[in-house]
Amino acid sequence: MHVTTLILGAGAAGMMAAAFAGPDVLVVDHAKNPGEKIRISGGGRCNFTNMYCDSNAFLSENPHFCKSALARYTQWDFLDLVGQYDIAWHEKTLGQLFCDGKSTQIVDMLLKEMEKSGAQLWLRTQIKDVRHAGGRFVTSLERDGKPIEITSKNLILATGGKSIPKMGATGIAYDIARQFGHAITETRPALVPLTFGDRFAPLAGVSTNALVSNNKTSFEEALLFTHRGLSGPAILQISSYWHEGEEITVNLLPGRDFPEILKACRQTEGRRAVTTELATHLPARLVEFLGQDIDLKGNIADLSDARIDALCDSLTAWRLKPTGSEGYRTAEVTLGGVSTEGVDSKSMMSKHLPGLYVIGEAIDVTGWLGGYNFQWAWASGVAAGRHI
Ligand code: FDA
Repeated sequence: MHVTTLILGAGAAGMMAAAFAGPDVLVVDHAKNPGEKIRISGGGRCNFTNMYCDSNAFLSENPHFCKSALARYTQWDFLDLVGQYDIAWHEKTLGQLFCDGKSTQIVDMLLKEMEKSGAQLWLRTQIKDVRHAGGRFVTSLERDGKPIEITSKNLILATGGKSIPKMGATGIAYDIARQFGHAITETRPALVPLTFGDRFAPLAGVSTNALVSNNKTSFEEALLFTHRGLSGPAILQISSYWHEGEEITVNLLPGRDFPEILKACRQTEGRRAVTTELATHLPARLVEFLGQDIDLKGNIADLSDARIDALCDSLTAWRLKPTGSEGYRTAEVTLGGVSTEGVDSKSMMSKHLPGLYVIGEAIDVTGWLGGYNFQWAWASGVAAGRHI
């Protein structure tokens, strides 16, 4: 069978590309359902874009690469599409836009857009082999237990990254791209909880606002203690910048001049216990836990200036060394991927082999937490789809 365009992967990027590349398009995926990551995203409400999306929120060996596609299909364009389908949405925090209802509304919207463009979708289809011969791509598939060969002028790699293998993630885009002469940058799990053995197990479920930093950047968002370590948006964000063996620094009292607060309290509320005052700023269970390592005994009146400074240092520059991360098992995305060097930033087409495209998470562009990764999937998918 011959089609103009074969798209491997019916995820966010692949479906979006199909909607723009139609009509003679076939999308194949080994999963039972399309857009499974959209379905489970944002706690079932899909954080589908971010109002403040711009290239600063993306990591890549080439930080400029994502600019063109993001500028040509913006968060406002996607919001417009969402509006056409009467999908209700709200801003949760930091420009993050979520569906009011279920995330499957976004999947259904993309399926309708694909249908409108005339694209076909084959699910439960295995990709066996891809070749390029006589100016065409020849892709061997297996569908309903039967082998089938598809020839196509264009081939779009949209099979995503390696995160959550249980959901069907594979590194197949990297293998195919490599086969056609593309370099793959180092891949790592990102937007992933960091592990600390059972050190924080007694605090599991406690959450607090924190500024989490390393030597490259910092994020102020919620931090969550878990049985295995630290999670929550602040940790997921820093994990994308963290390398095995490095420390992170946690400021538990961001935006507050805590030494001044304590000094003022010493004048007016000197008989208050240090732990009582701290518990007005931090969860009580956390204060109790911190008291095992930091001297929090006594009343505020007992604190010398030097002890106040030492105490505040411990709380605002808590240095922690993760034992590792939870890995691809729970990572929201894969950092790295098909090197941007071999891909045209306007069209997402390979510079090595015309007709080959790489989009979405498969390419070395990774967004922050907050709807940025979907915006990249939409924008890169549209860039390829429009070019075809
Ligand atoms: P995606 O992974 O969506 O699609 C790839 C498709 O290829 C899948 O359908 C897969 O089955 C298929 N495939 C893979 N290997 C194959 C093979 N060998 N043969 C056939 N098919 C194959 N982002 C965001 O912006 N907002 C959010 O709220 C969230 N939330 C979120 C929650 C969780 C739990 C995860 C894991 C991830 C997120 N993300 C997110 C990230 C977001 O889901 C991700 O960046 C995009 O889905 C990437 O889109 P792609 O289309 O590139 O890959």
